[in-house]
Amino acid sequence: MQDLLSISDLTKAGIQKILNLADQLKFDQKNGIPHRVLEGKVLAMLFRKSSTRTRVSFETGMYQLGGHAMFLSAADIQMGRGEPVRDTARVLSRYADGIMIRTFAQSEVTELAEYADIPVINGLTDYAHPCQVLSDLMTVRERMTALEGLTLCFIGDGNNMANSLIAGGALCGMKVRVATPEGYEPDAGVCARAGAALTLTHDPREAARGADVVYTDVWASMGQEDETAERVKAFQGFQVNAELMRLASPRAMVLHCLPAHREEEITAEVFEAHAADIFEQAENRLHAQKAVMCLLMGGETPPR
Ligand code: CP
Ligand code: NVA
Repeated sequence: MQDLLSISDLTKAGIQKILNLADQLKFDQKNGIPHRVLEGKVLAMLFRKSSTRTRVSFETGMYQLGGHAMFLSAADIQMGRGEPVRDTARVLSRYADGIMIRTFAQSEVTELAEYADIPVINGLTDYAHPCQVLSDLMTVRERMTALEGLTLCFIGDGNNMANSLIAGGALCGMKVRVATPEGYEPDAGVCARAGAALTLTHDPREAARGADVVYTDVWASMGQEDETAERVKAFQGFQVNAELMRLASPRAMVLHCLPAHREEEITAEVFEAHAADIFEQAENRLHAQKAVMCLLMGGETPPR
């Protein structure tokens, strides 16, 4: 693996390697065992969209690994004034050891990776959110021990999260069910690649029945703010609430990538009942991304 542009860049074994290392790094972090394998290295973080978790977890992760992370808002650098991505890639490659980018078009991330000589990590596009899914898989594995054979349902918009959960879940041997309103289905190519692992429906009840993991995300993603009113209408009936949860497995986890809009895609009641898992999921961004950075930028895994 040279870059992490989407979860489909990984194999099942590759995901397991990242999750195993993430588990180790989490344990060691909590037990005061440092791993400064990125000493002297710099991660350039390019943001065209807002972020709390991605920014803070990457920055903290780099610090804990002995390196430095640089926050670059696209609005403040020349990229925001139209400097081509391919030039930005070649310039950053002369200073930094890795690039994390959060942007709109996946093609921008692909172009950045094509022109950069250093690893590129996708920190969210309209199409994919691979770092989030690695942390989601880590969180499910922690609670359920194994991923193989579990059923994950995603209720809501066929967005970046839906695409990445389908790809990641299918790679790990999970059954993925996605319920969206008509016209809001996930990416057709992602669905085709998932094959029999995926069930697409417009009925949230069908998706939730017996599910081990119930996942939801906002109805209007970053960049879709002007569609909020029409989406709130279209997504009526796609809320994760107590009634829907009664259909899921009694031991079901509820996950949300955050930020959450209470009483829209999830009720406050269900959110708070599952807050322990949801915030563990947020914490795991740190550990999973440290594992990714060790593997991409460190050239070695921390010693055990
Ligand atoms: N889940 C996630 O990526 O959060 P941020 O937008 O806060 O980074
Ligand atoms: N689908 C959401 C995820 C935020 C982490 C968005 O793209 O805004």
